[in-house]
Amino acid sequence: MDQRLFEAARAAMERAYAPYSKFQVGAAILAANGRIYSGCNVENAAYPIGTCAEAGAIAAMVQDGARQIREIAVIGRGGNLCTPCGGCRQRIREFAMPETKVHVCGPEGLRRTFTRDELLPESFGPENLA
Ligand code: THU
Repeated sequence: MDQRLFEAARAAMERAYAPYSKFQVGAAILAANGRIYSGCNVENAAYPIGTCAEAGAIAAMVQDGARQIREIAVIGRGGNLCTPCGGCRQRIREFAMPETKVHVCGPEGLRRTFTRDELLPESFGPENLA
């Protein structure tokens, strides 16, 4: 995995606003344009409206005019893999290819790499609406 991608995800995690769960998450996207976009989870006192790190990174990418995820890294602390939640798997799916790599990291580095299709098989996407 690109070290810049890991560093961007880790820096985003450090800025996460997670006073309720105390679980900070960072995400960083390497887009097809070569740029890196990052995001963090932003919780809210009205719990359900908190947003995930992946959603923030995708919003930053789209806002900049990019539409294609080449690779994405997600990072969280703790002993378990910080894999994207179900909703974020669908968010990633919108802008990634079946073989696009999703790197799941901890503070120490890469823990495991999945493909988009492994995380969300038989998925529904833009083609279904064509
Ligand atoms: N979280 C993410 O940011 N991304 C995920 O894919 C999993 C969960 C956040 C949401 C919430 O702020 C915290 O982690 C605990 O669920």
